[in-house]
Amino acid sequence: MKQLLYFLVLPALVLAYAWFASCNQPTNSQKLPAQYRQTGDSVTTQAQQLLLKNLNGAVEQGGYGYAVEFCNIYADSLTKLAALPLITGIQRLSANNRNPKNALSAPQDIAMFAHYTNQKANQKAITDTVVTTDNGYVYYKPIMLVMPTCLKCHGKPNADIDAAALEIITQKYPTDRAQGYQLNDLRGMWKLTFAGEFTNP
Ligand code: HEC
Repeated sequence: MKQLLYFLVLPALVLAYAWFASCNQPTNSQKLPAQYRQTGDSVTTQAQQLLLKNLNGAVEQGGYGYAVEFCNIYADSLTKLAALPLITGIQRLSANNRNPKNALSAPQDIAMFAHYTNQKANQKAITDTVVTTDNGYVYYKPIMLVMPTCLKCHGKPNADIDAAALEIITQKYPTDRAQGYQLNDLRGMWKLTFAGEFTNP
């Protein structure tokens, strides 16, 4: 009986305590989502600024029709941001997408966009979000249409949309669904895919 105590019960108690203690310690991985959110926010802010700079420069140079080529995150400058270590994907997605590449398809993306849409409809705050997946972390951030210049290519046809831009958009994007927006609408969301983990010092 005593032997049983030494060889079975005691080690089991020690293991159970170790497990319990490890669960109650703030481990590195519990701090991680904050780091992904910080990085996600910073990268998407930079990307958005770069996009706007390219877009505005193009509008100045050749008007909205010419600038249609520049509301595109697949441009060289942005792929450099996407090449940051750990980030394996940078996308802008929308339920009303212009480029078919930007459609929602993964169930998690559909759920997140539905959540943002609901929050907006109920006048609740829409914030960026970090989701844990089997392969790492995904960062989402809503894209609001807050600048009048966006309406020149995403507003109502024959009212807000620039005529030259509309012509080129119709040619280049025959399945376009990104028209008819108003100021302060939810236009889409950023999705950043992280693979692997930050290593904490
Ligand atoms: C000169 C025209 C033009 C202007 C101005 C413009 N966009 Fe776009 N937008 C486009 C085009 C073209 C695409 C498709 C890009 C692609 O092929 O990925 C697009 C795509 C997008 C997408 C990706 C989802 C989708 O529909 O494919 C978002 C989000 C977006 N625009 C937001 C904005 C916001 C916010 C503004 C204002 C800051 C803005 N756009 C201004 C032309 C424009």
